[in-house]
Amino acid sequence: MMFWTLLGILCVSTSVVISNPYRVNPGPLVTATRGEPWPQPYQTTKHDGFLILRPSVFQILITGETCDILEDAVQRYTAIVTLEASVASRELRSAPRAHARQYSSFAGNLASLNVRLINPCEDMPHLNMNESYVLDVRNTTEAGSLMAKSIWGILRGLETFTHLLSRSGDGPNLALKCQTIIDKPLLQHRGLLLDTSRHYLPISDILRTLDAMSYNKMNVFHWHITDDQSFPYQSTRFPELSAKGAFHPTLTYTRENVQKIIEYARYRGIRVIPEFDTPGHTRSWGESHPDLLTPCYNDSTGAPDGTLGPLDPTESKLYPFIRELFAEIGVTFPERYIHLGGDEVPFDCWASNPRIRQYMHEHHMNDSYEQLEAEYIQNLLNITRDLNMTSIVWQEVFDNGVHLSPETVVHVWTGNQKSKLAAVTKAGFHVLLSACWYLDHLQNGGDWRKFYACDPLAFPSTVQQRELVLGGEACMWGEVVDSTNVHPRIWPRASAAAERLWSHERNPSVIYAAQRLEEHACRMNRRGIPAQPPNGPGFCIQ
Ligand SMILES: *[C@@H]1O[C@H](CO)[C@@H](O)[C@H](O)[C@H]1NC(C)=O
Ligand SMILES: *[C@@H]1O[C@H](CO)[C@@H](O)[C@H](O)[C@H]1NC(C)=O
Ligand SMILES: *[C@@H]1O[C@H](CO)[C@@H](O)[C@H](O)[C@H]1NC(C)=O
Ligand SMILES: *[C@@H]1O[C@H](CO)[C@@H](O)[C@H](O)[C@H]1NC(C)=O
Ligand SMILES: *[C@@H]1O[C@H](CO)[C@@H](O)[C@H](O)[C@H]1NC(C)=O
Ligand SMILES: *[C@@H]1O[C@H](CO)[C@@H](O)[C@H](O)[C@H]1NC(C)=O
Repeated sequence: MMFWTLLGILCVSTSVVISNPYRVNPGPLVTATRGEPWPQPYQTTKHDGFLILRPSVFQILITGETCDILEDAVQRYTAIVTLEASVASRELRSAPRAHARQYSSFAGNLASLNVRLINPCEDMPHLNMNESYVLDVRNTTEAGSLMAKSIWGILRGLETFTHLLSRSGDGPNLALKCQTIIDKPLLQHRGLLLDTSRHYLPISDILRTLDAMSYNKMNVFHWHITDDQSFPYQSTRFPELSAKGAFHPTLTYTRENVQKIIEYARYRGIRVIPEFDTPGHTRSWGESHPDLLTPCYNDSTGAPDGTLGPLDPTESKLYPFIRELFAEIGVTFPERYIHLGGDEVPFDCWASNPRIRQYMHEHHMNDSYEQLEAEYIQNLLNITRDLNMTSIVWQEVFDNGVHLSPETVVHVWTGNQKSKLAAVTKAGFHVLLSACWYLDHLQNGGDWRKFYACDPLAFPSTVQQRELVLGGEACMWGEVVDSTNVHPRIWPRASAAAERLWSHERNPSVIYAAQRLEEHACRMNRRGIPAQPPNGPGFCIQ
């Protein structure tokens, strides 16, 4: 009793001491919008009135070209409309007074959304896919219309359509504001990196992440599949790599698993770009192929100290091995782009090794280990070029002066982002940005704002330089995330990056974004993505 009394006093005095308006005012910190899309479309024209969608009669109709991708999408988005309707009807029972009319006037019923795809479907998503679409929901007829030249635009438009739906206050019926949306992305590469080496992620979590990416119009799954800690990729040519290098024999990705992930992504217009990071970040390779790694030496004893460092570029077996492994990767992953890593190569082990020092001496490398790294990457780039792959490399490869072919993409992840972007594009290379979107860098619950503040095109540049920005990626490094926390850590924080990569507004309103993100996080929750609350106190209705 005494305890509770004291606690009561403490609580009262705390609420007096802290002058935080959000503690004294009831209700959510940020009021969610209703029926506003995320990311913000290129151009929205709102018309008078609102339409009512009755889920019992509503249909998505295909009126143009079609294919398996479109038919699957119509099923998925029909299911989402049904889900929204069932949440709307449940809410009416639980909170009948909560509804306030937000729209001026009833303008008619929406019996169908007519989907007109103009060109036949492309088979696989690719860097230059056309994601633009026109979505029109008006009071003139009972049918809304969605039109795009390309299947990828149709997918993005269906996503937007479901974002316009909100509860009508009348059972399961949904309301949408009459409007015309003309939409297209700002940048063509809008990615999310998942790291499956530091912690293994089950296939179901990867598929769920692909779903969530499609809800945010992200279109590249950058799969950082191997690293020092484990090698979960099951190679058909070198099965020993995962047999010995995975955390556990069950914690691997088989060829069938990989194909399933690529197919699931394809249906959502998402490319799957694998990263096999070398010559550093390869310790797990040594569990089965210790001879490919550099033996580190003890400087005082002059003998191997029993540890292994990066790949050993002086080892004659290395390049034939790399060639075979990457040839297999090229067959397994249909995507033309491959990420070669090349970051954070530690030089101390190379420097300790007498054979490497001898090699450098013979090749006049003057003890510059950057030169040795550059030589390795050059060889690797030649191998991937012969395999018709286009390479993406982390920024160190560019910094070390490796001779890169013109189509190589440089991925900026650290340092002064603006000067890096300027330097890479000045040299004429395509660039991807991640430096401002490291999801493992936590601040507080509402830290999506720092990700939202990043404008990928804000750096000293000419128009030609800005055209070399392909886009960027939010990175979810896996040291302290696994199946238990990966989704709430990514979402809705990565949604901030998704909007900055899609939307054309260069100075967006953060207050309006907070309101839309409040709605969007709840929308993801309803669809089974455990996105965390973006802004602080508030509520979602499930
Ligand atoms: C239908 O939309 C037009 C403009 O698009 C508007 O002038 C008219 O008032 C609307 N009708 C209703 C019933 O909302
Ligand atoms: C992309 O599609 C839109 C319509 O969906 C079309 O207007 C535009 O011309 C297309 N762009 C290209 C480069 O084909
Ligand atoms: C190198 O060897 C010496 C002598 O055995 C030992 O004391 C020292 O800890 C070793 N250094 C490293 C970095 O292993
Ligand atoms: C190594 O150093 C010599 C003499 O300083 C210089 O002439 C040569 O260009 C250097 N080699 C490389 C590959 O940098
Ligand atoms: C890579 O290929 C180019 C062009 O064929 C060649 O000139 C160069 O020597 C090769 N580099 C290495 C390190 O093999
Ligand atoms: C690469 O492309 C060229 C030209 O399109 C083709 O001749 C060659 O067979 C391809 N090589 C591989 C490994 O796919």
